[in-house]
Amino acid sequence: MDSDFLLRRIHSLTGIIPVGLFLVYHLYIQLYLHSGAEAYNGVVNSYYDGPLALVLLIVFVYIPLFFHSFYGVKLSIEAQIQPEYTFFSHLLYWLQRLSGVGIFLFIFAHIWNTQIKPLADGTWGTHFEHLHEGFHDPTFGLVTISVYVFGILGATFHLANGINTFCITWGIATTPKSQARIRAVSIVTFILLTVMAFYSISAVLIS
Ligand code: HEM
Repeated sequence: MDSDFLLRRIHSLTGIIPVGLFLVYHLYIQLYLHSGAEAYNGVVNSYYDGPLALVLLIVFVYIPLFFHSFYGVKLSIEAQIQPEYTFFSHLLYWLQRLSGVGIFLFIFAHIWNTQIKPLADGTWGTHFEHLHEGFHDPTFGLVTISVYVFGILGATFHLANGINTFCITWGIATTPKSQARIRAVSIVTFILLTVMAFYSISAVLIS
């Protein structure tokens, strides 16, 4: 089998399983921001009390995420004008790549700020307080909030539109009727995940 074909299939699959599923789980956990600092930190930290927590995270989240991301950057660099696409399909094609590159940068900043820096400072575990400090910082607060807003929009759009292209890639949606149905699923997914994520961070903004 052609290795390019195989790599593209792995890239496509990892976008949904496990990376897409992890994104949904990750956004769901953020709803606990409305339960206050103690409850939120407790829920996030309790995962790490489990056996093999870090190993499972690396194997099932970080490795597939980094594969999808680095191969996605390669695909984005190689992107070309698609003469046979309609204007709207073309727009989605470019937005998929633009949002991918945006979340690529966001993920690095996010891991640095929420994991590596707190570990280095010895403050890891107080996740709610870190977010609160970032959002309410008098100098960089607005920048941090804007980065989160664009990071969320980029990630929810990328996954929602990705469900659509995934179904086409894998031959799940082949007829115009099934493609219209999958597009509707994508739009509902985008709205639900975005509203859920913005509702979650509003807890930190108003606290
Ligand atoms: C939250 C993290 C991410 C999730 C949940 C995710 C999810 C997905 C999904 C479900 C697809 C559709 C697969 C298909 O069309 O067959 C996709 C496609 C794509 N992703 Fe991601 N992705 C993420 C991060 C990234 C990053 C960081 C990049 C880096 C640029 C990227 C680049 C791409 C590209 C270029 C495509 C289109 C592939 C194509 O049209 O053949 N993704 N992604």
